[in-house]
Amino acid sequence: MRQLSVEELLSLAPYGFSGEHELCKSIEDISFKFTQNREQLDSYLSSDKEISAYMSFYFPTHYPKFSYLLSKVPSLHDGLKKAHFVDVGSGPGTFMLAYLDLFPLSNAVYGIENSVKMKQVALKVLAHYYPQKEIHIVQNKEGLLLKGPVWLNFGHSLNEMQVEIGLEIIKKLNPTWISFLEPGTLQSFKVVNSLRSSLLQNDFKNYFPCPNSQAMCPMEGADNWCHQNLFSHFHPEVERLMQKVKKDRFQQNMVAHLWGKDFVSTEVSSKKSNARVVRFSGETKFSFELEACINDETQNSNDIVNFVILKKKHEKKLLKKLKNSLLGMELTYSILGHRKTHQGVLTTEIQLIDIN
Ligand SMILES: C[S@@+](CC[C@H](N)C(=O)[O-])C[C@H]1O[C@@H](n2cnc3c(N)ncnc32)[C@H](O)[C@@H]1O
Repeated sequence: MRQLSVEELLSLAPYGFSGEHELCKSIEDISFKFTQNREQLDSYLSSDKEISAYMSFYFPTHYPKFSYLLSKVPSLHDGLKKAHFVDVGSGPGTFMLAYLDLFPLSNAVYGIENSVKMKQVALKVLAHYYPQKEIHIVQNKEGLLLKGPVWLNFGHSLNEMQVEIGLEIIKKLNPTWISFLEPGTLQSFKVVNSLRSSLLQNDFKNYFPCPNSQAMCPMEGADNWCHQNLFSHFHPEVERLMQKVKKDRFQQNMVAHLWGKDFVSTEVSSKKSNARVVRFSGETKFSFELEACINDETQNSNDIVNFVILKKKHEKKLLKKLKNSLLGMELTYSILGHRKTHQGVLTTEIQLIDIN
């Protein structure tokens, strides 16, 4: 995957900043709208200046989220690449570019984007990086008539539209695959999870991150939420901007999901004794403790369990890997036993086999 530079992205932007100070101020203004003033959120979509600021900062920092998700499902790449890629809420073309970078043999990519200004920017960006490809961006789902399997991607967009609109797009385009790359917040976890029962009823399976692809989520209604950590490095110009606007993106939280129709065969769901790390609870002199989501085959459900990993029973190499691992990693393990802590919490001691 490429490292996108601020200078190159801004050369394609509709507004020319007088200097770094003006650019940073504009990034801070959009950030405020994203995090604190969501009633005003839509206003950045009609401002050349704020769209340009978005391109310099959010484009390069969202971009690696796509390859993160794809790296989690290598056995599905062959199926995914046969589908027409449709990016919903494509903005300046962030994930359309990420898709073409990972699947460069695809002839065409599609976007649905209701801001005319964003659409124009995306067409310019994609023509710059991929002048030979067919790029289609429509403002409304009715504008797309595709034959063959469809892969719908919602990237930082489902949380900006009403869930009903997301569902209507899914219904209309009848995809084989759906990916979500949404912010790693409780709010966006709830938004993505609110589609869960509807997707399960419509023969979709979850291929990432849930251990049991067809069960409900044990974190629904809890005060915690399932998310992943992504660690990335960026072009030095992006890292400089991060410093200037005091927004660290080296470690990003995200809610990433991949769903596919039930008939899609995969090795992922048949893997035994795998668990997804959802929270690191602590490290003592003797052990690591964490919460993981597992597939309980007897109940056909996903459950959160407390794992204890005793240091003395593991090689240093594996412990180092565990120490550096992030939320969203998959553990392969066998169970050594169960015990209750002094506080009465049931824990499972495991023998780690691998971490991915
Ligand atoms: C935060 S931006 C994300 C852009 C890009 N996917 C990214 O991650 O950089 C959200 C985009 O979703 C678009 N959007 C919101 N609601 C939409 C809808 N109902 N139909 C199409 N696009 C929509 C907005 O116009 C905006 O460009």
